Amino acid sequence: MLGTTLPHLKTALPGPGSQALIDRLAQRECPAITARRARRASELGHDQDDPVVWARARGANVEDVDGNVFVDLTAGFGVATVGHGHPDVRAAAQAQSEVLLHAMGDAFPDPRRIELLELLAAKTGLDRGIFGSSGSDAVEAALKTARLASGRTGVLAFDGGYHGLSYGALAATDYKSTAFRAPFVAQLGEHVRHAPFGGEIPDLRDVGAVLVEPIQGRGGIRVPPAGWLTELVSHARAAGAVVIFDEIYTGFGRTGGWFRFQAEGVRPDLLCLGKGMSGGFPISVCMGTAEVMDAWGASRGEALHTQTFLGNPVGCAMSLACIGALEALIPTVSAAGAGLQASLESRGFTVRGAGLMLGVEVADSLALSRALLHQGYLALPAGLRAEVLALTPPLGITQGQLDGFLAAFDEAGPCPR
Ligand SMILES: Cc1ncc(COP(=O)(O)O)c(C=O)c1O
Repeated sequence: MLGTTLPHLKTALPGPGSQALIDRLAQRECPAITARRARRASELGHDQDDPVVWARARGANVEDVDGNVFVDLTAGFGVATVGHGHPDVRAAAQAQSEVLLHAMGDAFPDPRRIELLELLAAKTGLDRGIFGSSGSDAVEAALKTARLASGRTGVLAFDGGYHGLSYGALAATDYKSTAFRAPFVAQLGEHVRHAPFGGEIPDLRDVGAVLVEPIQGRGGIRVPPAGWLTELVSHARAAGAVVIFDEIYTGFGRTGGWFRFQAEGVRPDLLCLGKGMSGGFPISVCMGTAEVMDAWGASRGEALHTQTFLGNPVGCAMSLACIGALEALIPTVSAAGAGLQASLESRGFTVRGAGLMLGVEVADSLALSRALLHQGYLALPAGLRAEVLALTPPLGITQGQLDGFLAAFDEAGPCPR
Protein backbone atom coordinates (compact mmCIF):
# COMPACT_ATOMS: atom_id res chain seq x y z
CA MET A 1 0.00 0.00 0.00
CA LEU A 2 1.35 3.41 -0.95
CA GLY A 3 2.59 4.92 2.31
CA THR A 4 4.28 1.96 3.97
CA THR A 5 5.73 0.13 1.01
CA LEU A 6 9.29 -0.43 -0.22
CA PRO A 7 10.49 1.21 -3.45
CA HIS A 8 9.38 -0.17 -6.78
CA LEU A 9 11.05 1.18 -9.92
CA LYS A 10 9.42 0.43 -13.27
CA THR A 11 11.65 2.57 -15.52
CA ALA A 12 15.18 3.86 -15.66
CA LEU A 13 15.35 7.27 -13.94
CA PRO A 14 14.13 9.73 -14.91
CA GLY A 15 11.38 7.84 -16.74
CA PRO A 16 9.96 9.06 -20.06
CA GLY A 17 7.02 10.88 -18.45
CA SER A 18 9.30 12.79 -16.08
CA GLN A 19 11.75 13.57 -18.85
CA ALA A 20 9.08 15.05 -21.11
CA LEU A 21 7.77 17.26 -18.30
CA ILE A 22 11.24 18.41 -17.26
CA ASP A 23 11.95 19.39 -20.86
CA ARG A 24 8.79 21.53 -20.86
CA LEU A 25 9.65 22.98 -17.43
CA ALA A 26 13.06 24.03 -18.70
CA GLN A 27 11.40 26.20 -21.34
CA ARG A 28 9.25 28.12 -18.90
CA GLU A 29 10.96 28.24 -15.51
CA CYS A 30 13.84 30.49 -14.50
CA PRO A 31 16.90 28.29 -15.15
CA ALA A 32 18.23 28.82 -11.60
CA ILE A 33 15.40 26.84 -10.03
CA THR A 34 15.44 23.20 -11.19
CA ALA A 35 18.85 21.62 -11.78
CA ARG A 36 19.12 19.77 -15.06
CA ARG A 37 21.58 17.17 -16.22
CA ALA A 38 22.50 18.50 -19.63
CA ARG A 39 23.12 22.08 -18.63
CA ARG A 40 24.90 21.61 -15.35
CA ALA A 41 26.91 18.37 -15.32
CA SER A 42 30.11 19.88 -16.72
CA GLU A 43 30.04 22.86 -14.35
CA LEU A 44 29.30 20.70 -11.32
CA GLY A 45 32.06 18.19 -11.83
CA HIS A 46 29.80 15.32 -10.84
CA ASP A 47 26.99 13.40 -12.47
CA GLN A 48 23.54 14.79 -12.03
CA ASP A 49 20.30 13.40 -13.39
CA ASP A 50 17.24 15.36 -14.36
CA PRO A 51 14.77 15.06 -11.49
CA VAL A 52 11.77 12.76 -11.42
CA VAL A 53 8.39 14.52 -11.38
CA TRP A 54 6.19 13.70 -8.39
CA ALA A 55 2.59 12.67 -9.07
CA ARG A 56 1.25 11.33 -5.73
CA ALA A 57 2.48 10.76 -2.21
CA ARG A 58 1.29 8.96 0.92
CA GLY A 59 3.06 8.34 4.22
CA ALA A 60 6.75 7.84 3.47
CA ASN A 61 6.15 7.01 -0.20
CA VAL A 62 6.23 9.19 -3.28
CA GLU A 63 5.17 8.01 -6.73
CA ASP A 64 6.39 9.74 -9.86
CA VAL A 65 4.52 10.31 -13.12
CA ASP A 66 5.97 7.06 -14.53
CA GLY A 67 4.61 4.98 -11.64
CA ASN A 68 7.99 4.60 -9.90
CA VAL A 69 7.57 4.40 -6.12
CA PHE A 70 10.18 5.86 -3.78
CA VAL A 71 10.75 6.00 -0.03
CA ASP A 72 11.22 9.63 0.96
CA LEU A 73 13.87 10.15 3.65
CA THR A 74 13.62 13.94 3.23
CA ALA A 75 9.92 14.23 4.19
CA GLY A 76 9.78 16.74 1.31
CA PHE A 77 12.29 19.21 2.88
CA GLY A 78 11.00 18.28 6.35
CA VAL A 79 7.39 19.23 5.63
CA ALA A 80 5.72 15.80 5.79
CA THR A 81 6.38 15.16 9.51
CA VAL A 82 3.05 13.33 9.76
CA GLY A 83 3.68 11.67 6.39
CA HIS A 84 2.62 12.77 2.95
CA GLY A 85 -1.12 13.20 2.55
CA HIS A 86 -2.04 12.33 6.16
CA PRO A 87 -5.77 11.43 6.20
CA ASP A 88 -6.63 13.92 8.98
CA VAL A 89 -4.80 16.72 7.18
CA ARG A 90 -6.54 15.94 3.89
CA ALA A 91 -9.93 15.75 5.61
CA ALA A 92 -9.32 19.12 7.30
CA ALA A 93 -8.31 20.69 3.98
CA GLN A 94 -11.39 19.30 2.26
CA ALA A 95 -13.81 20.34 5.01
CA GLN A 96 -12.36 23.85 5.23
CA SER A 97 -12.37 24.24 1.43
CA GLU A 98 -16.11 23.65 1.47
CA VAL A 99 -16.79 26.62 3.73
CA LEU A 100 -14.06 29.26 3.48
CA LEU A 101 -10.96 29.21 1.28
CA HIS A 102 -9.73 32.67 2.09
CA ALA A 103 -10.32 35.30 4.78
CA MET A 104 -8.85 38.78 4.91
CA GLY A 105 -5.50 38.74 6.68
CA ASP A 106 -5.36 41.60 9.16
CA ALA A 107 -8.81 42.97 8.23
CA PHE A 108 -11.29 40.10 8.78
CA PRO A 109 -10.04 36.96 10.55
CA ASP A 110 -11.71 33.53 10.64
CA PRO A 111 -12.17 31.02 13.48
CA ARG A 112 -9.43 28.55 12.38
CA ARG A 113 -6.77 31.23 12.69
CA ILE A 114 -7.78 31.98 16.26
CA GLU A 115 -7.93 28.27 17.22
CA LEU A 116 -4.48 27.70 15.74
CA LEU A 117 -2.92 30.64 17.59
CA GLU A 118 -4.39 29.28 20.84
CA LEU A 119 -3.03 25.80 20.15
CA LEU A 120 0.41 27.14 19.18
CA ALA A 121 0.51 29.20 22.37
CA ALA A 122 -0.33 26.10 24.42
CA LYS A 123 2.32 23.98 22.68
CA THR A 124 5.14 26.55 22.69
CA GLY A 125 4.43 28.41 25.93
CA LEU A 126 4.74 31.65 23.93
CA ASP A 127 1.84 34.07 23.99
CA ARG A 128 1.30 35.59 20.58
CA GLY A 129 2.09 34.97 16.93
CA ILE A 130 2.40 36.43 13.45
CA PHE A 131 1.57 34.09 10.58
CA GLY A 132 3.44 33.91 7.30
CA SER A 133 3.49 31.69 4.24
CA SER A 134 7.12 30.51 4.26
CA GLY A 135 9.90 29.94 6.75
CA SER A 136 11.59 33.11 5.54
CA ASP A 137 8.41 35.05 6.34
CA ALA A 138 8.59 33.86 9.96
CA VAL A 139 12.23 34.96 10.15
CA GLU A 140 11.39 38.38 8.68
CA ALA A 141 8.63 38.81 11.29
CA ALA A 142 11.01 37.80 14.09
CA LEU A 143 13.75 40.20 12.96
CA LYS A 144 11.29 43.11 12.77
CA THR A 145 9.82 42.23 16.18
CA ALA A 146 13.28 42.07 17.75
CA ARG A 147 14.16 45.45 16.24
CA LEU A 148 11.09 47.02 17.81
CA ALA A 149 11.47 45.27 21.18
CA SER A 150 15.18 45.89 21.64
CA GLY A 151 15.45 49.28 19.96
CA ARG A 152 18.72 48.07 18.42
CA THR A 153 19.61 47.25 14.85
CA GLY A 154 22.46 44.74 15.26
CA VAL A 155 21.80 41.05 14.63
CA LEU A 156 24.05 38.18 15.64
CA ALA A 157 23.72 35.03 13.53
CA PHE A 158 26.04 32.05 13.08
CA ASP A 159 28.33 30.51 10.51
CA GLY A 160 26.60 27.78 8.52
CA GLY A 161 23.17 29.10 9.51
CA TYR A 162 20.30 28.96 7.02
CA HIS A 163 17.28 31.19 7.58
CA GLY A 164 15.84 31.53 4.07
CA LEU A 165 16.57 33.61 1.00
CA SER A 166 14.27 36.65 1.17
CA TYR A 167 16.34 39.80 1.75
CA GLY A 168 15.90 40.11 5.53
CA ALA A 169 16.50 36.42 6.12
CA LEU A 170 19.30 36.28 3.55
CA ALA A 171 21.22 38.94 5.46
CA ALA A 172 21.35 36.44 8.35
CA THR A 173 21.92 33.31 6.26
CA ASP A 174 25.56 32.29 6.13
CA TYR A 175 25.25 28.79 4.59
CA LYS A 176 26.84 28.78 1.12
CA SER A 177 27.17 32.54 1.28
CA THR A 178 29.23 32.74 -1.89
CA ALA A 179 26.36 31.31 -3.89
CA PHE A 180 23.37 32.68 -2.02
CA ARG A 181 24.56 36.09 -0.80
CA ALA A 182 27.44 37.31 -2.89
CA PRO A 183 25.43 38.70 -5.87
CA PHE A 184 23.06 40.54 -3.52
CA VAL A 185 25.41 41.60 -0.76
CA ALA A 186 25.29 45.29 -1.64
CA GLN A 187 21.54 45.25 -1.00
CA LEU A 188 21.66 43.38 2.31
CA GLY A 189 22.72 46.02 4.82
CA GLU A 190 25.53 45.61 7.32
CA HIS A 191 23.64 44.97 10.50
CA VAL A 192 24.33 41.21 10.76
CA ARG A 193 27.51 39.73 12.25
CA HIS A 194 28.25 36.02 12.13
CA ALA A 195 29.92 34.17 15.00
CA PRO A 196 31.16 30.57 15.11
CA PHE A 197 28.24 28.18 15.70
CA GLY A 198 28.93 26.45 19.01
CA GLY A 199 31.98 28.67 19.60
CA GLU A 200 32.89 31.65 21.73
CA ILE A 201 30.03 34.11 22.19
CA PRO A 202 31.06 37.64 21.16
CA ASP A 203 30.29 40.94 22.84
CA LEU A 204 26.58 41.58 22.39
CA ARG A 205 26.42 45.25 23.38
CA ASP A 206 25.13 46.59 20.04
CA VAL A 207 23.10 43.47 19.27
CA GLY A 208 19.28 43.61 19.31
CA ALA A 209 18.60 40.06 18.07
CA VAL A 210 20.44 36.76 18.40
CA LEU A 211 19.16 34.40 15.70
CA VAL A 212 20.08 30.74 15.97
CA GLU A 213 19.02 27.29 14.79
CA PRO A 214 19.27 24.96 17.82
CA ILE A 215 20.48 22.29 15.40
CA GLN A 216 21.60 23.55 12.01
CA GLY A 217 19.71 21.81 9.21
CA ARG A 218 20.97 22.70 5.75
CA GLY A 219 24.27 23.68 7.35
CA GLY A 220 24.90 19.95 7.89
CA ILE A 221 22.82 18.70 10.87
CA ARG A 222 25.24 20.45 13.22
CA VAL A 223 24.53 20.06 16.93
CA PRO A 224 26.17 22.67 19.19
CA PRO A 225 28.10 21.51 22.29
CA ALA A 226 25.99 20.70 25.36
CA GLY A 227 25.18 23.84 27.33
CA TRP A 228 26.13 26.27 24.52
CA LEU A 229 22.57 27.36 23.78
CA THR A 230 21.92 27.98 27.49
CA GLU A 231 25.03 30.12 27.65
CA LEU A 232 24.02 31.98 24.50
CA VAL A 233 20.56 32.72 25.89
CA SER A 234 21.92 33.95 29.21
CA HIS A 235 24.49 36.20 27.47
CA ALA A 236 21.77 37.62 25.24
CA ARG A 237 19.45 38.27 28.18
CA ALA A 238 22.21 39.98 30.12
CA ALA A 239 22.94 42.21 27.12
CA GLY A 240 19.27 43.06 26.48
CA ALA A 241 19.14 41.24 23.14
CA VAL A 242 16.08 39.36 21.96
CA VAL A 243 16.62 35.61 21.49
CA ILE A 244 15.16 34.14 18.28
CA PHE A 245 15.21 30.37 17.80
CA ASP A 246 14.74 29.33 14.20
CA GLU A 247 13.01 25.96 14.63
CA ILE A 248 11.64 25.88 11.11
CA TYR A 249 13.48 22.58 10.60
CA THR A 250 13.76 21.24 14.17
CA GLY A 251 10.18 22.03 15.25
CA PHE A 252 7.08 19.84 15.45
CA GLY A 253 8.65 16.60 16.62
CA ARG A 254 11.56 16.37 14.23
CA THR A 255 14.17 16.04 17.00
CA GLY A 256 12.11 13.87 19.37
CA GLY A 257 10.11 16.44 21.37
CA TRP A 258 7.72 19.14 20.20
CA PHE A 259 10.47 21.76 19.97
CA ARG A 260 14.22 21.59 20.45
CA PHE A 261 14.33 24.51 22.89
CA GLN A 262 12.39 22.39 25.38
CA ALA A 263 15.06 19.66 25.37
CA GLU A 264 17.72 22.35 25.85
CA GLY A 265 15.92 23.73 28.91
CA VAL A 266 15.83 27.30 27.56
CA ARG A 267 13.02 29.53 26.34
CA PRO A 268 13.49 31.86 23.40
CA ASP A 269 11.71 35.22 23.20
CA LEU A 270 10.74 34.49 19.60
CA LEU A 271 10.31 31.16 17.86
CA CYS A 272 10.14 30.69 14.08
CA LEU A 273 8.16 27.69 12.84
CA GLY A 274 7.23 26.44 9.38
CA LYS A 275 7.87 23.29 7.32
CA GLY A 276 6.27 20.47 9.36
CA MET A 277 3.61 22.74 10.83
CA SER A 278 0.81 21.78 8.44
CA GLY A 279 1.97 18.63 6.66
CA GLY A 280 1.85 20.34 3.27
CA PHE A 281 0.41 23.87 3.18
CA PRO A 282 2.69 26.92 2.88
CA ILE A 283 2.14 28.34 6.35
CA SER A 284 4.59 29.53 9.00
CA VAL A 285 4.49 31.46 12.23
CA CYS A 286 6.66 33.58 14.46
CA MET A 287 5.55 33.02 18.08
CA GLY A 288 6.73 35.31 20.86
CA THR A 289 6.34 36.38 24.45
CA ALA A 290 3.72 39.06 25.12
CA GLU A 291 6.48 41.38 26.27
CA VAL A 292 8.35 41.21 22.99
CA MET A 293 5.33 40.98 20.66
CA ASP A 294 3.61 43.93 22.32
CA ALA A 295 6.50 46.15 21.27
CA TRP A 296 4.61 46.47 17.96
CA GLY A 297 1.86 48.43 19.72
CA ALA A 298 -1.80 48.09 18.78
CA SER A 299 -2.95 48.29 15.17
CA ARG A 300 -4.41 51.68 14.31
CA GLY A 301 -6.49 50.21 11.53
CA GLU A 302 -3.69 49.56 9.08
CA ALA A 303 -1.42 46.70 10.16
CA LEU A 304 2.30 47.48 10.29
CA HIS A 305 3.04 43.92 9.27
CA THR A 306 0.70 41.76 7.22
CA GLN A 307 0.28 39.74 4.04
CA THR A 308 -2.64 39.06 1.72
CA PHE A 309 -2.77 35.39 2.75
CA LEU A 310 -1.94 35.88 6.46
CA GLY A 311 -3.39 32.98 8.46
CA ASN A 312 -5.14 31.40 5.48
CA PRO A 313 -8.10 29.30 6.78
CA VAL A 314 -7.20 26.14 4.83
CA GLY A 315 -3.60 26.32 6.05
CA CYS A 316 -4.75 26.87 9.65
CA ALA A 317 -7.24 23.98 9.46
CA MET A 318 -4.52 21.69 8.05
CA SER A 319 -2.12 22.80 10.74
CA LEU A 320 -4.66 22.09 13.51
CA ALA A 321 -5.10 18.56 12.10
CA CYS A 322 -1.36 18.08 11.64
CA ILE A 323 -0.60 19.09 15.24
CA GLY A 324 -3.35 16.71 16.39
CA ALA A 325 -1.79 13.85 14.41
CA LEU A 326 1.66 14.64 15.82
CA GLU A 327 0.47 13.88 19.37
CA ALA A 328 0.63 10.14 18.72
CA LEU A 329 3.77 10.23 16.58
CA ILE A 330 6.15 12.33 18.64
CA PRO A 331 6.57 9.79 21.48
CA THR A 332 7.93 7.29 18.92
CA VAL A 333 10.56 9.57 17.36
CA SER A 334 13.46 9.27 19.80
CA ALA A 335 13.48 5.47 19.72
CA ALA A 336 13.16 5.34 15.91
CA GLY A 337 16.00 7.85 15.53
CA ALA A 338 18.22 6.07 18.07
CA GLY A 339 17.68 2.76 16.26
CA LEU A 340 18.60 4.25 12.89
CA GLN A 341 21.62 6.01 14.36
CA ALA A 342 22.84 2.81 16.05
CA SER A 343 22.48 0.83 12.80
CA LEU A 344 24.58 3.37 10.91
CA GLU A 345 27.16 3.63 13.68
CA SER A 346 27.53 -0.16 13.76
CA ARG A 347 28.60 0.14 10.10
CA GLY A 348 31.45 2.47 11.12
CA PHE A 349 29.79 5.83 10.32
CA THR A 350 29.66 8.93 12.51
CA VAL A 351 26.10 10.16 12.83
CA ARG A 352 25.05 13.54 14.19
CA GLY A 353 21.67 15.04 15.06
CA ALA A 354 18.73 14.12 17.26
CA GLY A 355 15.49 12.21 16.85
CA LEU A 356 14.74 11.79 13.14
CA MET A 357 17.01 14.64 12.07
CA LEU A 358 20.24 12.79 11.42
CA GLY A 359 23.33 13.47 9.33
CA VAL A 360 25.58 10.57 8.33
CA GLU A 361 29.16 11.66 7.67
CA VAL A 362 30.17 10.12 4.34
CA ALA A 363 33.02 10.75 1.92
CA ASP A 364 30.79 11.63 -1.05
CA SER A 365 27.19 12.40 -0.14
CA LEU A 366 26.37 13.61 -3.67
CA ALA A 367 27.29 10.26 -5.20
CA LEU A 368 25.53 8.44 -2.37
CA SER A 369 22.35 10.48 -2.78
CA ARG A 370 22.32 9.65 -6.48
CA ALA A 371 23.00 5.94 -5.92
CA LEU A 372 20.18 5.79 -3.38
CA LEU A 373 17.77 7.50 -5.78
CA HIS A 374 18.45 4.79 -8.34
CA GLN A 375 17.47 2.24 -5.69
CA GLY A 376 14.30 4.21 -4.90
CA TYR A 377 15.37 6.13 -1.78
CA LEU A 378 15.24 9.94 -1.63
CA ALA A 379 17.87 11.50 0.65
CA LEU A 380 19.75 14.76 0.17
CA PRO A 381 23.27 15.92 0.97
CA ALA A 382 23.67 18.68 3.59
CA GLY A 383 26.51 20.80 4.89
CA LEU A 384 28.88 23.34 3.43
CA ARG A 385 31.01 20.68 1.80
CA ALA A 386 28.06 18.25 1.46
CA GLU A 387 29.73 16.37 4.30
CA VAL A 388 26.64 14.53 5.44
CA LEU A 389 23.72 12.66 3.99
CA ALA A 390 20.70 14.13 5.75
CA LEU A 391 17.99 11.76 6.96
CA THR A 392 14.77 13.55 7.94
CA PRO A 393 12.01 11.08 7.05
CA PRO A 394 8.33 11.30 7.91
CA LEU A 395 8.12 10.55 11.64
CA GLY A 396 5.94 7.49 11.04
CA ILE A 397 8.28 5.81 8.53
CA THR A 398 8.06 2.05 9.08
CA GLN A 399 10.88 -0.14 10.38
CA GLY A 400 10.61 -2.11 7.14
CA GLN A 401 11.26 1.04 5.12
CA LEU A 402 14.22 1.96 7.33
CA ASP A 403 15.63 -1.58 6.98
CA GLY A 404 15.18 -1.27 3.21
CA PHE A 405 17.08 2.01 3.29
CA LEU A 406 19.93 0.41 5.25
CA ALA A 407 20.17 -2.40 2.70
CA ALA A 408 20.28 0.18 -0.13
CA PHE A 409 22.90 2.15 1.80
CA ASP A 410 25.06 -0.99 2.06
CA GLU A 411 24.54 -1.74 -1.61
CA ALA A 412 25.68 1.81 -2.53
CA GLY A 413 28.87 1.14 -0.52
CA PRO A 414 29.64 4.63 0.81
CA CYS A 415 32.88 5.30 2.69
CA PRO A 416 32.94 7.02 6.08
CA ARG A 417 34.27 10.55 5.98
C1 LIG B 1 16.16 26.53 9.66
C2 LIG B 1 15.49 27.11 8.47
N1 LIG B 1 15.07 28.38 8.52
C3 LIG B 1 14.44 28.97 7.47
C4 LIG B 1 14.22 28.26 6.32
C5 LIG B 1 13.53 28.94 5.16
O1 LIG B 1 12.27 28.41 4.98
P1 LIG B 1 11.50 28.63 3.57
O2 LIG B 1 12.30 27.90 2.55
O3 LIG B 1 10.15 28.02 3.81
O4 LIG B 1 11.45 30.10 3.34
C6 LIG B 1 14.65 26.94 6.22
C7 LIG B 1 14.45 26.16 4.97
O5 LIG B 1 15.08 25.18 4.71
C8 LIG B 1 15.29 26.34 7.32
O6 LIG B 1 15.74 25.08 7.28
